[in-house]
Amino acid sequence: MQFKFHMPVKAYFGEGCVKQYGSELEAFGKKAMIVTGGSSAKTSGALDDICEVLKSLNIDHMIFDKVENNPSTANVGEGGAAARRYGAGFVIGIGGGSPLDAAKAIAVLATNDIEADELFDNSFKNKPLTTIAIPTTAGTGSEVTPYSVLTRNEAQTKGSFGTPDTFPAIAFLDPVYTETQPAAVTVNTAIDALSHCIEGYLSNRSTPASDILAQEGIRLFGECKEHLQNGAISREVRGKLLYASMLGGMVIAQTGTTIVHGAGYNYTYFKNIPHGRANGYLMAEYLRFNYSHGAEKTDNVLALLGLADINGFDALIASLIGRAPGLSDAEISKYAAITMSQRSTTYNIRPVQAQDIEDIFRKVQA
Ligand SMILES: [Fe+2]
Repeated sequence: MQFKFHMPVKAYFGEGCVKQYGSELEAFGKKAMIVTGGSSAKTSGALDDICEVLKSLNIDHMIFDKVENNPSTANVGEGGAAARRYGAGFVIGIGGGSPLDAAKAIAVLATNDIEADELFDNSFKNKPLTTIAIPTTAGTGSEVTPYSVLTRNEAQTKGSFGTPDTFPAIAFLDPVYTETQPAAVTVNTAIDALSHCIEGYLSNRSTPASDILAQEGIRLFGECKEHLQNGAISREVRGKLLYASMLGGMVIAQTGTTIVHGAGYNYTYFKNIPHGRANGYLMAEYLRFNYSHGAEKTDNVLALLGLADINGFDALIASLIGRAPGLSDAEISKYAAITMSQRSTTYNIRPVQAQDIEDIFRKVQA
């Protein structure tokens, strides 16, 4: 047995953890830049909590609340310039995946005089600023990964970067912050977390340690599935979903994602479909495609979810988000080509060709 497992994030999980452990921020400097998308940071109470902590520690802060949904390279470039002008000592990302990923990019751009497009080269001279991550959705897992996923308009898709230096230093995970998310966001983000666990589990980069985390994340989704279907999301369920999301992040921090993410980015870029939902549309067909190369693991996924077979999985996801939109033949071949350009495609447990991706897009249509 041989593997590497790298997880340098100090994660505090539980109600009230920001106020309880916020004094740790004292170590990171006297000026913090808070990076948010503007709404969930405020409505969740996370922004108020962190501002109270910063004030008590005499740490100044500025708020960059212009993070777009699926932030572009131009958007994080603007944030990086603002962080440099302000002289930020560290960056605090609050929100869903978009602000957390933007915070990592801004932390790199604050200390490196490069264009945002150069982030994807994954080589920057200077260490990024320390990043603190506070999720307000349960899905991205970005708080425990080094990845920053950004929209690349020139490539008409998303791209990601990440090095061992871009892991957040601390993640504060308080399930209460996810309570203000609408039901649809809760469902979409939960499916994102599930996709991280399943793709990591069925990745050719999976390890014994990442598999343990992936299985627990999948099992937790199974415990929450009826709650997601009927919309009765208690605080206890919120806690399970946030924990599953964190586990999914820890998994993909080791394995990366695979073809579900690579293909799903097309629905998001071209059809404006939220990330988790986009993944969800593809997942049953992805399991069918991979079955010949991962039967035992796929059967285990289904058992952990309490489902009899892939048809049951398909029905569960369809009950939560419906079916994928129809695509033209031209769209399907374009999306498949873009998917094949993603590095993560090579991590899929079964080798994949453009034709396979086309078949998946064709089969999942409503
Ligand atoms: Fe994702």
